[in-house]
Amino acid sequence: MCGICAGISKENMIDEIVGGLKKLEYRGYDSSGVAYIENGKIKVVKSVGQIKNLEKKLAKTCANIVIGHTRWATHGVVSESNSHPHISQDGKVAIVHNGIIENYEKLKTTLKTKEFYSQTDTEVLANVISQMPGDNLQKIVSACREVVGSFALAVMFENCKDIFLAKRNSPLAVAIGDGEVLASSDISVFAEKFEFCYILDDDEFARINSKNVVFFDKNGKKIEKNRVFLKNFDFYSDFSDEKYFMLKEVKEQPMAIRKTFFEYTSDKKFFDLQQLKAFKSFHFIACGTAYHSCLMGARYIRHFCKKETHVSLASEFKYDENVLSKKCLYIFVSQSGETADTIACAKMIKEKGLMSMGITNVSYCTLNNLVDFVLPTFAGREVAVASTKAYTCQLFTMLLFALMLAGKDLETLKSFVLDFNVCDLGSDILQSLFKFKKIFFVGREQDYVTSLEGALKLKEIAYLNCLGIAGGELKHGTLALVDDETLVIAISTQTGLKEKMENVIEEIRARGGKVLLVSQFEHNTKVDYKIVLPVHEECLMPIVSVVPLQLLALEFCVRLGFNPDKPRNLAKSVTVE
Ligand code: AGP
Repeated sequence: MCGICAGISKENMIDEIVGGLKKLEYRGYDSSGVAYIENGKIKVVKSVGQIKNLEKKLAKTCANIVIGHTRWATHGVVSESNSHPHISQDGKVAIVHNGIIENYEKLKTTLKTKEFYSQTDTEVLANVISQMPGDNLQKIVSACREVVGSFALAVMFENCKDIFLAKRNSPLAVAIGDGEVLASSDISVFAEKFEFCYILDDDEFARINSKNVVFFDKNGKKIEKNRVFLKNFDFYSDFSDEKYFMLKEVKEQPMAIRKTFFEYTSDKKFFDLQQLKAFKSFHFIACGTAYHSCLMGARYIRHFCKKETHVSLASEFKYDENVLSKKCLYIFVSQSGETADTIACAKMIKEKGLMSMGITNVSYCTLNNLVDFVLPTFAGREVAVASTKAYTCQLFTMLLFALMLAGKDLETLKSFVLDFNVCDLGSDILQSLFKFKKIFFVGREQDYVTSLEGALKLKEIAYLNCLGIAGGELKHGTLALVDDETLVIAISTQTGLKEKMENVIEEIRARGGKVLLVSQFEHNTKVDYKIVLPVHEECLMPIVSVVPLQLLALEFCVRLGFNPDKPRNLAKSVTVE
């Protein structure tokens, strides 16, 4: 989960590459660096921390052959020496890399050099390339053949006016402009400036110069690639009205839900409904927030279609002894469509000849190329690491899917779509909540799912050690943690479980715990704080009830002095297993 950017131009390319790295910062922001050619020699500039630190160091630098990288640490601590670009010991090769070289220790033993300045797998690869025989392209093709693992690479050589690209299991695209060629881990980097791009497939290579790009297959044989036009690519605009992408994206949720609704009720055909109705069961697989949306998606299928469902964490599914079936549709949910754990499972299902569907928020992503059906979400580009609008759009898309499978009329959702809005928490309640450091989220059934998601938001941006617990499970152990310093956020949106949740609230308050009730209706029990939700159909309440939890996490985060868009230790797209 790093970002690479590379380019060649007749003009100075430094600003373009630094600008590209800024757009890739969501993929990792521990450190960054560039390498460029000056009088035939390779120069490298790196910095720890955000891209603006690198920008200062490059203030007076001019170069027209440049590669750049923004890092989320996988091998080696966060330091300048571990930052990319990495250079071979002889100084003749510089590379930037997104991915993991799993056999780098073994490759290290094949190297003539025994001197390494970093702890990274990438530095080893730079030396493997450098000592390979043949011309520059042959060196890279031969080196990548020895690699076990994933890579999106940009490679430059001393006294060479070309940059070389290589790709396996990590995204990489390249665009040609007027007198310049730009490559990036993410096509949003050039969506505003270029008309089309090319997307490299696994074990493909490219050689770029300021005029054009030539593609090669895994044997170094020339190949042709199709253009991907960017005109309808939805990329985020620089935001001015909100201080944080996350707040912008929380507020964009009503718009995103509306767009999703109108796309699926238009005359566009996203899938053959009869073909999908034939499946006997549905197995959802994902990570993190997307996994939580799967828990709801499975509930919608059971409720509206009365069909069997399963839900698995991708990182578990791949190693489980799953009982697989041709009558089952495997549904992979991923905002980025690049999550390595999810991709690995989709590849496994494909290799077994089973049918799969992707629910993704990015049009051109690896996952979409692996599945048989794609159900897009229309949340628009989501930049903040903590997923918000993509989550509610996943919920809504899966609700629409279940209703379509069940032959229901989607128009019944129209009033919700037009009424749905983002609530305002009100400063008084916030002031009273900030004193709590031990916070649990509890709910039953669909509200348990929302509890899990609410807890994840608070964990990942406010770094609070909080839990999401099934309401009925509290008394089986976790209740022991409840004391008068505990805040329990009780989510209760199902009238049929109201009494049960009243019992849960009593259990908590009897032990001194304070309760914040999040609900659209009254409860016959005393609580300490309340967030009153608007009334909508119960199946829609998971979308409505998660919004105040997103805002609560944001408020805690900012009050604690953290940046919600770039939480520590995390990245937006986890492209390593
Ligand atoms: C969500 O807030 C987290 N950033 C994380 O759990 C995320 O949902 C997970 O990594 C899956 O990402 P994906 O949807 O892009 O596959």
